[in-house]
Amino acid sequence: MIGAGIAAFIAEPVQGEAGAIVPADDYFPKVREICDKWGILFIADEVQTGMGRTGKLWGIENWGVAPDIMGMGKAFGGGVIPAGNIVLSERVYEVMFENPYLHTTTFGGNPVATAAAIAALHVTIDEDIPGQAAEKGAYLKGKVHDLAAKYPDLYDDVRGLGLLIGMEFKSAEIGYAVTTGLFKERVLVGGTLNNAKAFRLEPPAVITYDQLDTVVARLDEVLGTVRKQFA
Ligand SMILES: Cc1ncc(COP(=O)(O)O)c(C=O)c1O
Repeated sequence: MIGAGIAAFIAEPVQGEAGAIVPADDYFPKVREICDKWGILFIADEVQTGMGRTGKLWGIENWGVAPDIMGMGKAFGGGVIPAGNIVLSERVYEVMFENPYLHTTTFGGNPVATAAAIAALHVTIDEDIPGQAAEKGAYLKGKVHDLAAKYPDLYDDVRGLGLLIGMEFKSAEIGYAVTTGLFKERVLVGGTLNNAKAFRLEPPAVITYDQLDTVVARLDEVLGTVRKQFA
């Protein structure tokens, strides 16, 4: 039977390391439907997309879909403590009532890490980090779109949600030249694990509009230099 033996489907709501790839609007609703049909658990990896980065508290909320299991990390520790977490739906958690030994951990529930994570969640909600990421992300993506229109010979794509913005260039050489050029201008961007064609802009949501404008101005300068180099 199709689907038999498949325990789970796992995905990042927006693929981070691949260069901020956003799936089609109907992708996750269809995934949810297929998982429900065949009794497959849907796991959302919110390590990069969680804690407000995409403009919602959890990235998967952009599609109005509830996963069965959600993993989180990185910003979850507030940037001060290494902390990760999984959240299980009741249906999944219930399995542990019969067999609590299914999952054990040495550092689970560590009081310092837990206090940091709870504080990080409070700040994320109280300071509306998702809202800030949505607004500043729309502003920044708009500016990068303008640059892509100015340098169509260099750009292939601009994409992303909130403050997880990816840009893809015509070649790995161009992408690498832009990345290194920005680094010399003191702008550190997030690479991708696949190739140098794409990179990510993923500043913290507390970044100011002045700082965003500085990044855009330096990106513009670097693109001008790279254009001459590859002309
Ligand atoms: C999307 C994603 N999932 C999972 C992980 C692993 O998280 P950790 O390094 O906290 O184990 C990472 C780490 O970079 C990640 O980017």
